[in-house]
Formats: sequence, structure tokens, C-alpha cells
Amino acid sequence: MSNTINRRIVLNARPTGAPTPEDFRLEQEEVPQPAEGQMLLRTIYLSLDPYMRGRMNDGPSYAPPVGLGEVMVGGTVSRVEASRHPAYKAGDLVAGFSGWQEYALSDGEGLTRLDDGMDRPSLALSVLGMPGFTAYHGLLNIGQPKAGETVVVASATGAVGSVVGQIAKLKGARVVGVAGGADKCRFAMETLGFDACIDHRAPDFAEQLAAATPQGVDVYFENVGGAVFEAVLPLLNVGARVPVCGLIAHYNDTQPYPGPNLVPQLMMRILTRRIRVQGFIIMDHFADGFDAFQRDMAGWVAQGKVTLREQFADGLEQAPQAFIDLLSGRNFGKVVVRVGEA
Ligand SMILES: NC(=O)c1ccc[n+]([C@@H]2O[C@H](COP(=O)([O-])OP(=O)(O)OC[C@H]3O[C@@H](n4cnc5c(N)ncnc54)[C@H](OP(=O)(O)O)[C@@H]3O)[C@@H](O)[C@H]2O)c1
Repeated sequence: MSNTINRRIVLNARPTGAPTPEDFRLEQEEVPQPAEGQMLLRTIYLSLDPYMRGRMNDGPSYAPPVGLGEVMVGGTVSRVEASRHPAYKAGDLVAGFSGWQEYALSDGEGLTRLDDGMDRPSLALSVLGMPGFTAYHGLLNIGQPKAGETVVVASATGAVGSVVGQIAKLKGARVVGVAGGADKCRFAMETLGFDACIDHRAPDFAEQLAAATPQGVDVYFENVGGAVFEAVLPLLNVGARVPVCGLIAHYNDTQPYPGPNLVPQLMMRILTRRIRVQGFIIMDHFADGFDAFQRDMAGWVAQGKVTLREQFADGLEQAPQAFIDLLSGRNFGKVVVRVGEA
């Protein structure tokens, strides 16, 4: 190992509203040495994901917050640099959770060994990893689309949404995406094969969405919340299913959502249309569902039936800005930081 310095990005301050670059701090330390039973991992790719915004808050949630001064959490693809672990040797390629840093120690917990011959190892952080599994589980186990039904998915060109729409097409559904801007909508239709895609920033978004779903909506895969959910709600059919995966429009909220209280109308709609709304956190499902997902998804990707656009940022120091951009839709595809040489 030639490098003796580990660069890492820690949480400098808890954000109020949208995170700023000052909420992060780049630090350097000596590269740690593995003890017996440990290995040293060198990060190649770091995944940036919306859930990280929640970890920057100090409050009760489904996962503990990152402490001030602690390394930001994150999924990674790494090379084993040195090993004193019986099951791994130097040179192995692994997926794990090293966080926003160039080197990390691991005792093997939570690591997945990757095939060194993989064409695109970064896909272990998206379509073949957590976001892909999120799409697969949420759509197939909760959304349960049937051939001929209409599926609407928000954040349609993102890591989760793009996979949701492509699986729904494989199941014979009509797929309508919602995305921010004409370029993303064109990509959703021309490359991902969606039947329609509506720009949520258009002033007549709700009217356009209604026109694109003449048979109503049977499955709404919720990634966003806010104005998109408000536009979808009146379109939901009797017996519709709503997997609630994410609410990214609200992650930076500091005030209660403005406007009249719509909860009574929402509940009335759920009752009279017999709508099933179910939230899920994908970490609950790895033990019982990840193997089946991996088999199906590896096949679909190899056959070209599911594809994914990636957007790379080069260098660990780019991670804060790339993350800030992700939260506001200035990304186009799955955001991955290239931290080190493959
Ligand atoms: N439940 C779980 O276990 C789980 C696991 C993974 C992810 N998730 C959730 O799934 C969602 C998608 O995650 P991802 O990793 O695939 O991210 P992503 O879609 O690749 O990136 C985030 C996208 O959100 C959209 N967005 C941001 N603010 C918005 C707003 N106010 N209104 C509408 N769209 C907005 C932007 O797309 P546009 O430019 O197209 O608007 C942005 O590109 C997130 O809510 C995330 O928290 C949940």
C-alpha cells in the first residue's frame, strides 16, 4: 500500500433545511492497520443516497443518526488492501458500508463479495444493490402490478424509480413516469421504455398526468410526496396499491407543510376506493428477499431488459456537492463518487 493518509468526510454541523457544504468537513488521518480478524478496505466507489439526509438529523428514526464529527455513512465498493481475516485476501472486490472515506477497517460484517470480472462493479450500489432491491421489493411485493394495469412512478429516472418502471414494463403494465424536466422525461420514454413521462415542474402538471392516465392509476410507487402525491391521489382507482418508499420532497422541510389539512379527504379516499398504502424500509427485507432479487435482477441486466444511468463525481471531496445536488434533482441517474482507482 503506497498511501498512508486516509481522507474522510465527517458531519460538521446538523443542517437546517437543505444541507450546505459547511455541514461537511474533510479530514485526514493515518490509514488504520487491521488487527487479527480484520481487513483494510480501499474505497473505489461511494454511493450517494437520499436516506443520508435523514442520518444528518438528530432525532428518533428507523436508524441512528451520524454523530457530529463522525464519518458520513454510505454504501461502497472496495478492494481488500490487506487482510488478517480468514475469509478474505488482498485484492478481493467487496461491497459494504465503509462510508465517505478512502480507507476503512472491516471485520467482514455486512460485506458482500463481488465477482472481479463484473463489467460495472458500481452497479452493486444501484440496480444490483440496495436501490434495485428497493424497487423490486416495493413494486412486486406491495404494488403487485398486473398486466394491463397503470403504474405511476415518481423520480422516474433515479436509482429506484428507473428500476421500478422497467420491472413494471416486464410485468406488462402501462408505465407513466414523473420526472423533473424534458431531458429526464425523454430518457424515461426513449431509453427506459416508459409509455409516458410528465414533468412535475410544468404549471399544468396535474392535468397532464390525468391525461396520461385515462384508465386511472392502479399502482403509485411513492418516492417523492408533496405536489406529486396531491396530483396522483384523485387518479387512484378502486383497489389501488401505494408502496410508500420515500418522500424526498419533504426531507429538507423545517416547517409543517402549508395549506389546508387534507388528512380527512385523504382518509376518505383511502376508504371509499379501498386503497392499500404501505410504507417499507428495505433494510427489513434483506434476510428473506435479497437472494431472489439478485437472481432475477442479474438475469434482467445481463439480458439488457433493465438498464440504469449513472452519474459519476470524481474524487471524495466532490461528495458533499454531489449529495446536495441529488436532493434537489440536479442529478441525472444514480449518483456514484469515484473515490479511488479500480
Ligand atoms: N424505503 C426505503 O427503504 C428506501 C430505499 C432507497 C431509497 N428510498 C427512497 O426512494 C426515493 C428515491 O431514491 P433514489 O436513491 O432513487 O434517488 P433518486 O431518485 O436517484 O434522486 C433523487 C431525485 O428526487 C427527485 N426530487 C427531489 N426533490 C423533489 C421534489 N420536491 N419533487 C419531486 N421530485 C423530487 C429528483 O428527481 P427529478 O429531477 O426527476 O424530480 C432527484 O433527482 C427517495 O425518496 C429515497 O429516500 C427509500
